[in-house]
Amino acid sequence: MTELSPSDIAKDAAAAAAVRLVENGMRLGLGTGSTAAFMVRRLAAFVKEDGLQLRCAATSKATADLAESLGMKVETLDDIGWLDLTIDGADELDPDLNLIKGGGAALLREKIVASASDRMVVMADGSKVVETLGAFHLPVEVIPFGWQTTKQLIDRMLTLMDLDGRPILQRKRDDAPLLTDEGNYILDLSLEAIPEPARLSAALNAIPGVVENGLFIGLCDLAIIGKPDGEVVEL
Ligand code: 5RP
Repeated sequence: MTELSPSDIAKDAAAAAAVRLVENGMRLGLGTGSTAAFMVRRLAAFVKEDGLQLRCAATSKATADLAESLGMKVETLDDIGWLDLTIDGADELDPDLNLIKGGGAALLREKIVASASDRMVVMADGSKVVETLGAFHLPVEVIPFGWQTTKQLIDRMLTLMDLDGRPILQRKRDDAPLLTDEGNYILDLSLEAIPEPARLSAALNAIPGVVENGLFIGLCDLAIIGKPDGEVVEL
């Protein structure tokens, strides 16, 4: 078995603590990303060893594929209807538990799943905790039709809000636009600091062509922060 890096030890510690919140019979949302992958692996082992009965919806095709490869059954959110708990990672979190998510281009399904949950728990390593959101680029999911116009409208809105951070289209290695699971594009905003996340989120989502943005405001109930020594703290 390969040795885990200090950052992976922190992620796995947070994942292990999050999985301890899972109870038999729960309807669960499974997040996306490397920390969520640690959680899915631990959850799959838990299900296998303890015979836990769960109903799970995934926030991405990648997570669904991983869970199923480990023997877990994954259903659609509509099949399940409502979730007791969603466990996901984050790119940044502030002291009010507002988040930037979507570094793995799954923000749309992640936000739908988190919004359809009684409780959202975020797992992260300490490097993700910030005073003010924005050092991490903010992903914005836009529909492909007229995306350059949408980009201009976002640019204009940022200027009106006195924010820097011109939108840049996320591309794959072959230079083609990266497609989300929903077949949309992602524009990344490099804002450096987001003083009013709720205001920015509302302004972005009011632009035609914007499907959703990576600001998760008031959705996270608990953050579990893993440390490289394997300890965790809760925020
Ligand atoms: C994917 C996400 C991830 O949760 C976020 O990017 C964190 O990923 P990781 O655990 O790999 O650092 O929002 O869209």
